Amino acid sequence: MTRRTGLSIVVLMMLILTGCSKQAVDTIMSSTDDPLNDVPDVNKQNRKISRGINLGNALEAPIEGEWGVILKEDYFRVIKEKGFNSVRIPIKWSAHTTDKPPYVIDSLFFQRIDWAVNQALSKGLSVIINLQHYDELMQDPVKHKERFLAIWDLISEHYQNYSADLFFEVLNEPNNQLTSSLWNEYLDEAISVIRKKNPFRTIIAGPASWNSMDYLNSLYLPTKDKNIIVTYHYYNPMQFTHQGTAWVTGSEDWLGNTWLGTYEQMNSIIQDFDKTLLWSKLSGRPIYMGEFGTYYRADMGSRAKWTSFIARQAEQRGFSWAYWEFCAGFGVYDPVKNEWIEPLLNALIPPAS
Ligand code: GLC
Repeated sequence: MTRRTGLSIVVLMMLILTGCSKQAVDTIMSSTDDPLNDVPDVNKQNRKISRGINLGNALEAPIEGEWGVILKEDYFRVIKEKGFNSVRIPIKWSAHTTDKPPYVIDSLFFQRIDWAVNQALSKGLSVIINLQHYDELMQDPVKHKERFLAIWDLISEHYQNYSADLFFEVLNEPNNQLTSSLWNEYLDEAISVIRKKNPFRTIIAGPASWNSMDYLNSLYLPTKDKNIIVTYHYYNPMQFTHQGTAWVTGSEDWLGNTWLGTYEQMNSIIQDFDKTLLWSKLSGRPIYMGEFGTYYRADMGSRAKWTSFIARQAEQRGFSWAYWEFCAGFGVYDPVKNEWIEPLLNALIPPAS
């Protein structure tokens, strides 16, 4: 018996003894990658998530469904079928965790996340789970630090036996009072918490100020930990991608802005991506563009052009990406007709590729 088979049997026994369902056990054990018994090659890990979709507006709403999206098994199937290799699942854990110690995550919510993660893994998709919309942490970081770390302790323990196809992203878009220096401190502690139970899991983390590439230079990461992918979000020009969104004040005035791929338009994106690539080379960290997308109120021709240009620019530089998002306001899929929005799908996954 090899060391790996021996380990798998022990893990399997432990899972059965701790009451893990047969389906969950099968999913974990049949997952595509090696069990987590060594540090993976982080660049290989990044290639696994090279083309992804955000399952947005579902589990990061206060209650799933409140923002119009309830995840379905079929979504995972069609995403895989079209050639994507990963999904990013934004999650509002903070709405399902007790306020005071001992911090506990609602068990039904955990089961729902298990279902989503297992759906992705069983379809052969890698999956990124994060902490999204922890607004209280952004408003009062000091008050919420302990709870934030406790949430990671609970998640980390819960998923410790999952395959290397599950990635942990520490926090979506730190902003407001969670300044760059505080974020560096909290991130460092969160990584230590995660590493206690998940020494070999790939972690994703991004800079302050809404995961802005302009803050990459102030992002601190533990030098010895090579198993970290760095994420940033890209929505430039905002006046085009976010025209008419309810949450960006003044964006009604942006309606009608187009993206035609003029020299100036392309050049400013190229400059941004080159800066990010330079940072990646100097730091030795691979890059994941975990969000980019356009709101439905922009014209479809411009949306498709921008999306295709961004995705290819990322790929040319070896960045993995995840489109924001699957089937809501930025969506690439119509959940009523159960149809892909072809121009956007083709922009993401060119038919010939
Ligand atoms: C961020 C926000 C999300 C928003 C998206 C586009 O991910 O968390 O709510 O829809 O950016 O603005």
